[in-house]
Amino acid sequence: MTTIAKPSDRIFVALDITDVAEAVSLAEKLRDWVGGVKMGKEFFTANGPQGVAEVSKVGMPVFLDLKWHDIPNTVAAAVRASQPLNPLFVNVHASGGAVMMAKAAEAAAEAGDKRSQVLGVTVLTSMSQEDLDGVGVESSVLDQVVRLAKLAKNSGLDGVVCSAKEITAIREACGKDFALMVPGIRPAWAATGDQKRIMTPADAIAAGADYLVIGRPITQADDPVEAAKKIAEELGG
Ligand code: C5P
Repeated sequence: MTTIAKPSDRIFVALDITDVAEAVSLAEKLRDWVGGVKMGKEFFTANGPQGVAEVSKVGMPVFLDLKWHDIPNTVAAAVRASQPLNPLFVNVHASGGAVMMAKAAEAAAEAGDKRSQVLGVTVLTSMSQEDLDGVGVESSVLDQVVRLAKLAKNSGLDGVVCSAKEITAIREACGKDFALMVPGIRPAWAATGDQKRIMTPADAIAAGADYLVIGRPITQADDPVEAAKKIAEELGG
């Protein structure tokens, strides 16, 4: 568990860029206003584990957002391979199923006290009801999210990635001791981009989010430090 000394420690800034030096510099500049960094597919595909290790040297908690979704054996092996990098969080797609998630949790547990928390991605925050219909899922977005969150919990995962709109329903279904990592966060003054199920940082925390993932509103701002500072202040420091 990371220590939450102030509300902005709940923010993981999404370093969705390919340049390692720029990622290191952003992490250094933002460290007073955010709690951790998230590196995902874009950064990892460009820079691999060495790139992650470079950014980790800044000393902030890392969320390695590679959203694994494969056969259980392969996902477990990927989780195992990630542990030397010491990420605080890794994640898998909950739609990969119960066995895949259980194997991922078991693989992380092998790393003992320093193991990553494994989160399940429910329904991507960029997806609307129409998008879900398009891939043949007949449930409502909310029912599908809650179904996947319960499956993640029962499979031994530590929490889920979900939209702020689903926090209340997931808390009801999965209880307090289940980490909710929430992307699709947009301050009132920021552009929406491709995110559809969005909420402001303060509203998401008030709704019960444990962590916020914020990317473009900070990284694409004219002044990323000012943007992060403004968000931190909106959260109360
Ligand atoms: O720029 P923005 O704030 O939209 O960035 C959101 C980040 O969170 C991206 O890195 C995206 O991959 C990630 N994410 C998401 N929805 C999920 C899981 C992760 O947007 N369900």
